[in-house]
Amino acid sequence: MAMMRLDKFLGDMGIASRSELRQLIKSGRVRVDGLPVTAPDRRVDDEKSRVVLDGRELKYKKFRYYMMDKPPGVLSVTEDSRQKTVLDLLPEELRRMGLFPVGRLDKDTSGLLLLTNDGDLAHRVISPKSGIWKLYRAKVDGELGPEDVRAFEEGLTLGDGTKCLPAKLRLLPGGSCLVKVTEGKYHQVKRMLASRGAPVLELRRLAVGGLELDEKLGPGGLKELEKEELDRLFVQDALEI
Ligand code: URA
Repeated sequence: MAMMRLDKFLGDMGIASRSELRQLIKSGRVRVDGLPVTAPDRRVDDEKSRVVLDGRELKYKKFRYYMMDKPPGVLSVTEDSRQKTVLDLLPEELRRMGLFPVGRLDKDTSGLLLLTNDGDLAHRVISPKSGIWKLYRAKVDGELGPEDVRAFEEGLTLGDGTKCLPAKLRLLPGGSCLVKVTEGKYHQVKRMLASRGAPVLELRRLAVGGLELDEKLGPGGLKELEKEELDRLFVQDALEI
């Protein structure tokens, strides 16, 4: 339970910009516990107060968690002066919630990207100390074989001397493969595969921990995650490859 100003409550819900909120509250469209409230600084309880805007009850959520199927061609950053970002793909009310991508996918990589305003969760997912597996499917230009699978298991050393933690590689028909890594070094998967003579043509993230990409979302599609789905992020080895 936390007490907060009504304008903060509505602002955190992405209802409108700060300046628009003042006007909206003053116009009497908001009711708290059944009574109209026109003071933006009215204190409300985020759990107990019944806040209703234009007849619609608003349930307060401090943190939000979304899964996006990131399309290729957009940056996994919150803003960029020239190029389109994943935040540009969000509906306006979500753009006001302070969401940011959890880790980065390269511009040309597609697939599962988490967006949240919960810094602690983001840190737990990204930190190599958490050892959370990330699963990718790659289409490569080159032949991979059992010796490459072994090299991934042992931990690759890249051309520049960077040592990688043990990872998993599974070969698929048609020049594709699955790669599971716990780290998120710069261009990690691309560099790992290139070091084995198989440069990546296409890369798609399929899962983070035990949370799988919902393929029904389609490019740029978004869904809010429920508690059980978030918990799956921390289920290790739910996905054997
Ligand atoms: N590894 C890469 O090389 N690129 C990504 O976008 C993610 C992992």
